Amino acid sequence: MQYSNELTTTWQTPSNIAIVKYWGKREVQEPVNPSISFSLSAARTTTKITISPREEGGFLFLLDGKETTGFDTKIKKFLELVQGRLPIIKNHFLKIESSNTFPHSTGIASSASSMSALAFCLADLQQQTNRKHPLNISEVSSLARLGSGSAARSVFGGWNLWGRLSEIPESSDHYAIPAPVSVAPVFQTFHDDILIVNSTTKPVSSSAGHALMNNHPFRDGRINQAHTNALNLLKHLETGNLDAFIELAESEALSLHALMMSSSPSYTLLQPNSLILIEKIREFRKTNDIPVCFTMDAGPNIHLLYPHEFSEKVKEWQERQLKPLCEEGRIIRDFVGKGPQKIINS
Ligand code: PMV
Repeated sequence: MQYSNELTTTWQTPSNIAIVKYWGKREVQEPVNPSISFSLSAARTTTKITISPREEGGFLFLLDGKETTGFDTKIKKFLELVQGRLPIIKNHFLKIESSNTFPHSTGIASSASSMSALAFCLADLQQQTNRKHPLNISEVSSLARLGSGSAARSVFGGWNLWGRLSEIPESSDHYAIPAPVSVAPVFQTFHDDILIVNSTTKPVSSSAGHALMNNHPFRDGRINQAHTNALNLLKHLETGNLDAFIELAESEALSLHALMMSSSPSYTLLQPNSLILIEKIREFRKTNDIPVCFTMDAGPNIHLLYPHEFSEKVKEWQERQLKPLCEEGRIIRDFVGKGPQKIINS
């Protein structure tokens, strides 16, 4: 090796929000259906990794400068899964320092941005120690996927597709690709305001939710639905068809929660204010003819989606009607963002 002791790198990567949802997986962390998301601008993770040679490996994780052990099991599992492809993990000690741009305890999952940041740092360090192993973006996406499925889509900016669609030969279950269409301008600056309904840890994790899809009575129907929606969404993104986009986005979000409600055991993550917000969004769209719609993650928070040109009108209504329904009036304003960045001189 060409270095004496320490090597370091820092990457900042985006979180993302799926419009066609990944729900259900096969070993190892392969999706049962394709998903399509866009990367976010404000919700990002910055991770710095410093490695030094140590025969028995090991790591230390610091969140916002403080030693934290709460994520150790997840990180350990991830490192074990990727060490075959990243041999530096086996004989180096890793100091991992991470911070998120979005506030803690908002119920916003940080796994997509944190796992993709980790994957970029490790792939970069592996390359620095062995130049014969170039940093290939599909490989980074595939590494990130092993940390958290949705992280596979956080290696590019803009719109991304992860999961095999036979109609799109370059698509893969192993890694994400940029949406293989020319995305209409309206969708390149789309807004996503996250209306925080409840910020506490959800009672059923995404991993448990994915597992419940294995024997789900609607499994086959869901897989077919997601395939059709993924192909249709690509069409709508290209043609800029907002009405069709809205119909599809809301149906996907409600289908995700319907799958949870019809799992065995069944559960619901929606809360009374989630439903009130959904009603208000639909009512505002109808009354004012403004193309706002919603999507949801696996949680009670509502993502309010709309084109940039309506920002002012939406903001005024949001402050008046939606903010009072949010926990402590919390709203995180975000929009379609750029891809990962290597931070020099951190
Ligand atoms: O990446 P995971 O395992 O946390 O799963 C994410 C699942 C959803 O957020 C509900 C949907 C998606 O495609 O991001």
